Amino acid sequence: MPPDGRKGGSRAGRMTGEGADIVRRGLFVTIEGVEGAGKTTLIARLAERLRRSGHEPVVTREPGGVPVAEAIRSLLLDRAQTGMDPRTEALLYAAARSQHLAEKVLPALERGSVVLCDRFVDSSLAYQGHARGLGIDEVWQINRFATGGCLPDLTLCLDLDPEIGLARIRKEAGREVNRLDLEDLAFHRKVREGFRLAAGRFPGRIFMLDASRPPLAVEEEAWNHIARLLAQVQAANPRGG
Ligand SMILES: Nc1ncnc2c1ncn2[C@@H]1O[C@H](COP(=O)(O)OP(=O)(O)OP(=O)(O)O)[C@@H](O)[C@H]1O
Ligand SMILES: [Mg+2]
Repeated sequence: MPPDGRKGGSRAGRMTGEGADIVRRGLFVTIEGVEGAGKTTLIARLAERLRRSGHEPVVTREPGGVPVAEAIRSLLLDRAQTGMDPRTEALLYAAARSQHLAEKVLPALERGSVVLCDRFVDSSLAYQGHARGLGIDEVWQINRFATGGCLPDLTLCLDLDPEIGLARIRKEAGREVNRLDLEDLAFHRKVREGFRLAAGRFPGRIFMLDASRPPLAVEEEAWNHIARLLAQVQAANPRGG
């Protein structure tokens, strides 16, 4: 039986092994960072830019993106769930991720699409692994199981002092405050540190972008990374895809 019992091992087929890159189609890009760093803003800009270059990007987010995962998201972000154990939290994120990957991300990649995903496994490493103190290695283990080891081709992490990020969010009228927004500044500082630690573990995949700059400057740097990978994908699949 393949490691992923459902998809004939296709998750394993996109594992980090270098040989697999040749047969890959599509491009899996994730955007990470603390609250208010500008993830959603950047994704909208990148999606627009991809469309202008003739692509039809699939834009999605975690936790969520498909009905089962959106149901888990409601539970995770519900302010009434004050007593959630950190391990429960980590497992729920991993469960939502597994469903989202199987049902939405992998099929899109197999069709050759560029997938832009707002948060992915590195958020779990930063929030549950580092900030909640479960350990980055431990959280990586359960996520390896959840994802079959499928990692993004590229992760852009928006690096910002969380005090600035939280101030940006507070300015937004009508933005709902979720369970994680209620954590104190020290927690969000640990999240930022967790992302930096994750970047140290995955050099070549995770790139830290200074998110204190104006949106256009962040977009330009992000686009350079994507354009570089698109050129590689096109070289590997010269007849399109
Ligand atoms: N580079 C930037 N400089 C200043 N303000 C920005 C920048 N990028 C985004 N913003 C503004 O900051 C606010 C938060 O941005 P956005 O929603 O994109 O962040 P996010 O990382 O998706 O937040 P969340 O973690 O809450 O999902 C928005 O009002 C947005 O317009
Ligand atoms: Mg957002």
